Amino acid sequence: DVTENLVPRAPVVAVMGHVDHGKTSLLDALRKSDVVAGEAGGITQHIGAYQVTLANGSEITFLDTPGHEAFTAMRMRGAQVTDIVILVVAADDSVMPQTIEAIKHAKAAEVPIIVAINKCDKPAADPNKVRQELLQHEIFVEDMGGDVLDVEVSATKGTGLDKLQEAIMLQAELLELKANPDRSAQGTVVEAKLETGRGMVATVLVSRGTLRVGDHFVMGTAMGKVRALLDYRGQQVKEAGPSVPVEVLGIQGAPVAGDDFAVTESEGKAKEIAEYRQR
Ligand code: GTP
Ligand code: NA
Ligand code: MG
Repeated sequence: DVTENLVPRAPVVAVMGHVDHGKTSLLDALRKSDVVAGEAGGITQHIGAYQVTLANGSEITFLDTPGHEAFTAMRMRGAQVTDIVILVVAADDSVMPQTIEAIKHAKAAEVPIIVAINKCDKPAADPNKVRQELLQHEIFVEDMGGDVLDVEVSATKGTGLDKLQEAIMLQAELLELKANPDRSAQGTVVEAKLETGRGMVATVLVSRGTLRVGDHFVMGTAMGKVRALLDYRGQQVKEAGPSVPVEVLGIQGAPVAGDDFAVTESEGKAKEIAEYRQR
């Protein structure tokens, strides 16, 4: 539809890499730069996804992927929730088996990679070895004549984070990410679990449209009516637009990571689609 109101949306970024190379530490360090969260950076992350607002006002949505399984599941279902993969490689350990796995996932999903060479504060750090070894896996960083952005960082010392954010925003600009907020919401389930006292809870990422409390929806083979929406801080919100991760309450059934969801015009329509899918 050429008349769609396409507006810029935040890039959705997943951090991947070998065990202990510093994925969680890097996410923690990046979250401290959130100007909305404040200097303390003391907010407890409520869901496996969150947003950072940079000093210049731009926003980045980070997905804290619990493992590569979630990414694979989402990829297999054709869902393109991730716009950019940050590949974390520890400079003292270089390319390891899960680094190679992450490269394969990103390439198969055709998601651009930014390499974060982490732990550069360590005496044994050898960033050039990382760049060299990545060549064998067809990751050609700029120093090697390629066009993959790479940034030397230290998650624990907090160095190189500005450059990493710049690289993310540069890559995002190239992708020209846009979505129409003025339509019924569609998106993908990032995580779903049954919680005592809360029922089935799904963390979803809206890809287009705006999801609102009271909306009827179908979610994989599940359906429901949005009873409440909570943002990554656990705060109740009335709506969530493109690239915004939220927790959804009011689900009947059991959605799984990678399921798509869509708001329907009525409860009857949601039921019809869900029942059709269950067969
Ligand atoms: P898994 O989730 O278990 O795969 O690990 P991870 O990739 O999330 O790594 P994590 O952030 O847990 O860091 C692993 C260890 O490396 C911790 O002891 C961190 O303190 C340490 N570490 C992470 N980043 C840095 C860094 O930049 N410099 C140094 N010196 N240590 C770091
Ligand atoms: Na770890
Ligand atoms: Mg971790």
